[in-house]
Formats: sequence, C-alpha cells, structure tokens
Amino acid sequence: MEIFLDSFDVTGITKYRDYIVGITTNPTILAQNINTMDDLHKQLQQMLQQFPGLLINLQVSSAKADQMVQEASKISEYGENFIVKVPCTFEGLKALKEIGKLGLKTNATLCFSFVQAKMAQDLGATYISPFLGRMQDAGHDIAEFVYKLRKVVVSSKILAASLRNVEHVELAVAVGCDAITINEQVFDSIFSQSLLQKGQAMFDALNKISYL
Ligand code: E4P
Repeated sequence: MEIFLDSFDVTGITKYRDYIVGITTNPTILAQNINTMDDLHKQLQQMLQQFPGLLINLQVSSAKADQMVQEASKISEYGENFIVKVPCTFEGLKALKEIGKLGLKTNATLCFSFVQAKMAQDLGATYISPFLGRMQDAGHDIAEFVYKLRKVVVSSKILAASLRNVEHVELAVAVGCDAITINEQVFDSIFSQSLLQKGQAMFDALNKISYL
C-alpha cells in the first residue's frame, strides 16, 4: 500500500520520508505553507533536491477544463514525479481525460460517489480519492461505501483521503485501498496504540540484554 503524507511541510516530510511514497496537497494545505506562486516555486525546487523520487500531488485551481489542462501542463514542467489533482466536477473530469492524454498522472479528488469514481476511472484516472472523513461527517456509512467502491474501482488506484483517525486508516487498509493519505497527527496515532505502548513498556522494564 502506498502511503502519502497529507502535507507540504518539509520537516514533516523529512520525519516520515522512509514510510511515504509522496505527498498530497490541496489549496487549504498550500495556503498554510506558502503565500505566493514564487514561494511555491522555490519550495518545490527545494523539495525536488531534498527528496528525490518523492511523488507530489498538486491540485489545479481553475474552474474550466481547458484552463485546468493548461495548469497541468505547467505543473508537469517541474518534473515527472508530479500528480495532477483535479476535482470530480463536470469540468474536472473532462480535464482529467485530456491531462491523461498528455501522459501525466492524475488524481480525481473530492470523490463522494460511485458514479464519480466510475467516470473518473473510465476517463483514465491514475488515482481516485474518496474523502472518507468528510463523508462520515455528512452522515454516510463509509465502511459500506469504501467496501463497494473497491468493487467498482479496478483499473485506477483508490487513494483513501480525508482520514481523520486510526479507525479510518484501519478501514482503508482492511478493504484493500491501494493508497492512503494521512497527516502527521494520524500518522503518529498508528504508533500510539495503547497495546503497543504497554507491550513495549513491559519488555523495556524486564529487558536485561542488548545486542549492541
Ligand atoms: C487529500 O488529497 C486531501 O488533501 C485531504 O485528505 C483532505 O482532507 P480534509 O477533509 O481533512 O481536508
């Protein structure tokens, strides 16, 4: 399973680099880390040098398909490790098809239904991102949704997104999502499980040997 860090923070990426294949960003995340296009450009250059091979998801910001395709073209100038996120809107999915024809990887983001996912897949999406946390907030049964989604999505990768806690991660893993994206807090909660902590503390208390 591929793990992405839902972040644009260099310190966080450094901390989790051994575990992650890449990062996902969105306008909210970028707004917390950068102020101008020039900032973004400089930080991307730094990341490309510091983290070779890291996959970087950047989301288009235009409302119209043809402009999204132009943005994708610009994003691709940064290098081949970029994944273009487009929303599962009418214009977004139209753009996704064209962006795929340019040979670029795509991520159909803001996916909230089977039909959006099916359309994105049929139009050639590399990744499809169901926003499970937001769906649960809106009262949906996300366990049933993602279980059925796994049957619908076969040629694109499911990238489980908007995961707010370790239970969401467990669900994504259990149904066989191809990828997840999590922030630092959710990442750490995987290892703060009480049975793991207690078990390790017991071993530490009794341990009399070291192989060093
Ligand atoms: C994924 O690509 C998104 O950036 C992210 O998971 C959205 O999560 P949120 O619902 O917490 O904003």
